[in-house]
This record gives sequence, structure tokens and C-alpha cells, in this order.
Amino acid sequence: MKILGIETSCDETAVCLIDAHGDYDADFRFEILGNALYSQVAVHAPYGGVFPNLAKREHARNLVPLFEKVLRDAHELNEEYTDISVYRNHLQSLLSREPDLLDALIRFLATYKKPSIDVIAVTHGPGLEPALWVGINFAKALSITWNIPLVTVNHMEGHVVLSAVEDNAIRTLAYPALALLISGGHTELVLSREWMHYERIGETRDDAVGEAFDKVARLLGLPYPGGPQVSKLADEARERSLERHFKLTRPMLTSDDYDFSFAGLKTAVRRIVEMKQNLSDDERLALAREFEDTVADVLVAKTLAAIEEYGAQSVIVGGGVAANRYIRERLAQAATKIEYSVELRIPPPIHATDNALMIATAGYFHALKNHFADPNTVRAQGTLRLA
Ligand code: KG4
Ligand code: ZN
Repeated sequence: MKILGIETSCDETAVCLIDAHGDYDADFRFEILGNALYSQVAVHAPYGGVFPNLAKREHARNLVPLFEKVLRDAHELNEEYTDISVYRNHLQSLLSREPDLLDALIRFLATYKKPSIDVIAVTHGPGLEPALWVGINFAKALSITWNIPLVTVNHMEGHVVLSAVEDNAIRTLAYPALALLISGGHTELVLSREWMHYERIGETRDDAVGEAFDKVARLLGLPYPGGPQVSKLADEARERSLERHFKLTRPMLTSDDYDFSFAGLKTAVRRIVEMKQNLSDDERLALAREFEDTVADVLVAKTLAAIEEYGAQSVIVGGGVAANRYIRERLAQAATKIEYSVELRIPPPIHATDNALMIATAGYFHALKNHFADPNTVRAQGTLRLA
């Protein structure tokens, strides 16, 4: 089955075509036929964060060129004049808010033959709604014009599914599995007792971890996206064994649940920055380190407590912050401390950050279960939940 994955929930525009076979417990395998990603990081950097309307405009500009590249790489881009006049009105109303995308898509559809794609999978949430709509409308337009079935994918499920994939196949998970989902928009602990079934056991009450990293980066005068930058400073502080100038409170560490809160932590960093006025270079490094230590302490403590309470046999870490070197290392250390063995699954950084492979892969498993969506009723759901 050939699945096209489309991801536009935040600031990455991504398209991927895979050819997949089998099922979770029945020799699942896939081949990537084409994979293209455009990161808008440089576009948003001057604003210090993702600017939703700018993200929407960039997705609209880049989807068709990325799709074209994917089809070319997959040897599925074949010129053939097509009369699309019967679809024109429908496409115009569907893409009325994305005129750039409409023009490019009409030209594309009139020039190329329908490729061999069995299912279109698109992220419908969670994320920035204006950004999600572009991918959804693009997917709907292709689905309707070419009469290809559509499936919708929860972005966070994409992260979870991809953490169970290794060498283009499934490496079966030991259940119950605990998923720690940490990204720019989410911080959740999710329990999975079987493949593709989820129960949320904890979440952030305010800012997401990645958001806290990005805001702290801004306070420290670092460019967007701040996570990797803060992490670099923190690593340097550790390498040089710098004096620990600051002490931050570990938020929610002793709360009797699996919830998180990172807004107060960011405020505490702001207070230090304002009080000190001019932080020395070493103090900046030390503050970045104390912040990262604090985040890691909380994530590790909550994850360990949840492993114990639910008897988790494996731990999956997904989302952009899973690319953080120190947090990965701390989780790996913690996993060895449990009396029984827990397998830790952290995807390599390239799979941890947003991409369309995870959408195509999760979409495949939904298609196997005949979870098809009606292209006329699919909507962007900014706060869509996994469980
Ligand atoms: O999952 P993701 O690519 O996008 C969504 O938010 O869905 O995650 C992006 C977030 C950003 O907040 C970014 O600063 C953070 O992940 N991030 C990191 C690192 N790499 C990315 N945070 C800490 N350390 C990193 N190495
Ligand atoms: Zn993500």
C-alpha cells in the first residue's frame, strides 16, 4: 500500500511517500519512496517563535514543490495534460484562503498524471490551526480530484508510532508501554496497554517543555528555536564544571500525580535575568544548565514514578525535545535503575523532530483498520488529544 503523508502542524512543511506492507505483529515493513521537508525555522527566527499566519503562508507556498520532489524521487511524476475544469470550482472553494496554493495546485494537476498512491494521510491536530488547515485542504484537494481515500492522523500518535520503528520495520514493544511526549506544544505522559490504544495519565498544566526551552532561550538572548541553543550552553557549563550560581525549584516534583508545570520555571529564570541585569557569560551558561537540570529532574522523576505504578515494560520518548542530549542520557541512566528491565525507545534526532514519515506510517495503520475520513468533513483540531 502506498501512503502519502502530509504534515503542516507547526513550522515544518513535510511530505513523504512510503510503500508499506504487513501489520504491527505481522511483518510490517516499508520503503521510503520519497521524503521532503522544508523547515521554516529561519523565517520565524526574527519573531522569536512560530508566527501562525507566517507558518500558514509558508506551508501554502511549499507544499506543491515538496510534493513534486517526492513524486519525482518516487518515479511517480509523469507529465500528461489533464482537463481539471470539472474540479476547478470545488478546488477554488476549498483553497479560497490559500490562493498561492490554489494556483500552484491547479497548474500541477493539469500537468501531471495521477500518481500511484493508495491512501493520503494528513495531520489534523494538535497544532496551530491556520497551519493545520493548509495541509488538510491540500490533502482534501488531492483526495477529491484523484479519488484517493483519506485518513487523518494525530500528530502525537505519529511520534509514538515512529518510536516503535527501526530499520523500516516494527521492533515490537513490550507492554504496558509508557510514552513521554515532549515537544514545543505538548508535554504528556501516555500509557499504552496495546498497540495504538492510549490513556493519558499526565500533562502540562501550562507551558510545554519545548516552549519553556524556547522562552528561556529568548531570555538568555539566544535565537529561535531555543531548545538546542540552551542545551548547548548547558553542555558547555557541564564540560567546564562551572560553579552552580543558581538554584531553581523543581516544579511539581512532589505533586501526587503525573502532571507538569513549566510556566513558573520560565518566570523564575526571568526574575534572575532581570535581577542580575547583566549576566556574565559564565552565569548564562550556569543558568542554562540549572534550567536543563531542573527540566530533566522533573521529567525523569515523573517518568520513573509512572513506570513503577503501571509496571511499564517499555518507555517511548517522542517529540522535538526528545532530541535533547542531556534528557536522553538522564532517561537512559534512570531506566537502568529500575529493578526489572525497562526498554527505552528514543528515536534518533532526525525522527524525533517533526516529519511526514511519522504521519505516513501512523496513517498506514489507520488505513489497515479502515479508519477512513470523509474529505468533506475533516477539520483542523488545534487541541486534539491522543487519549
Ligand atoms: O516536535 P517538535 O519538532 O515540534 C512540535 O512542537 O510539535 O518540537 C519542537 C520543540 C521546540 O520547542 C524546540 O526548541 C525543541 O523541540 N527542541 C529541543 C531540542 N531540539 C528541539 N529542546 C531541547 N533540546 C533540544 N536539543
Ligand atoms: Zn512534534
